[in-house]
Amino acid sequence: MIKSLVLYSSITGNTEKVAKRMADVLRTEGHDVAFVKVDEKTNVDLLAYDLVFLGSAVHQWLPTKMLMNYVKHMLKRYFSSGVIAPSSPIRPCKYAVCFCTYSGPHTGISEAIPATKWMKAFLEHVGFTVLEEWHTIGEFRNSEENSTKGRFGNIKGRPDEHDLAEIEDRVIGILNALKLCKNETSTRDDALKDITKTDSLEEEQRS
Ligand SMILES: Cc1cc2nc3c(=O)[nH]c(=O)nc-3n(C[C@H](O)[C@H](O)[C@H](O)COP(=O)(O)O)c2cc1C
Repeated sequence: MIKSLVLYSSITGNTEKVAKRMADVLRTEGHDVAFVKVDEKTNVDLLAYDLVFLGSAVHQWLPTKMLMNYVKHMLKRYFSSGVIAPSSPIRPCKYAVCFCTYSGPHTGISEAIPATKWMKAFLEHVGFTVLEEWHTIGEFRNSEENSTKGRFGNIKGRPDEHDLAEIEDRVIGILNALKLCKNETSTRDDALKDITKTDSLEEEQRS
């Protein structure tokens, strides 16, 4: 069982839909999930979790102010307590995925990439290995023009069931990758044990 966290910022509900689907899949797959919507008081220690999904709506190519304020607050906390050290040593078995929803009305996915990169930079400072960055199209609520005349055409109703099914598959893909990683480690450990056994047998036969 993986101790996981879905931490997200959403203003009009699109990112929340994605975040909820992630949490549902994690739970269905038997993992422990904390589901947290960021607000002014959020003080969640990411290091209490082994798999973190950090997500936001995109506002002016970046995460929301709420998400960025949380990150800035945690950066201060982590720097002052020595959690963030030079070279940002990679912490074993601490994995993360960054995700966002965006409308891309002007330049498409180029508007979303800076947002996930920003979140990724933070997670890497803390020592997480960021496995993937996911960008899901979301309707620009309260803006007919941006929801119908942008780079992606008509995006009303997105994220829709198709988008959410893709998220579900991707979460399962991440879980499979982590399982594989665990299996590979145990296979490698078994192989090492076998080598050590053979070495000591040969040693005994020589003496
Ligand atoms: C104030 C504001 C600024 C936005 N800026 C961008 C932007 O720069 N690029 C983009 O692709 N979408 C932008 N959007 C659209 C949202 O990112 C998109 O609709 C997203 O899915 C909303 O997520 P939410 O429903 O979780 O808040 C903006 C929306 C708002 C309200």
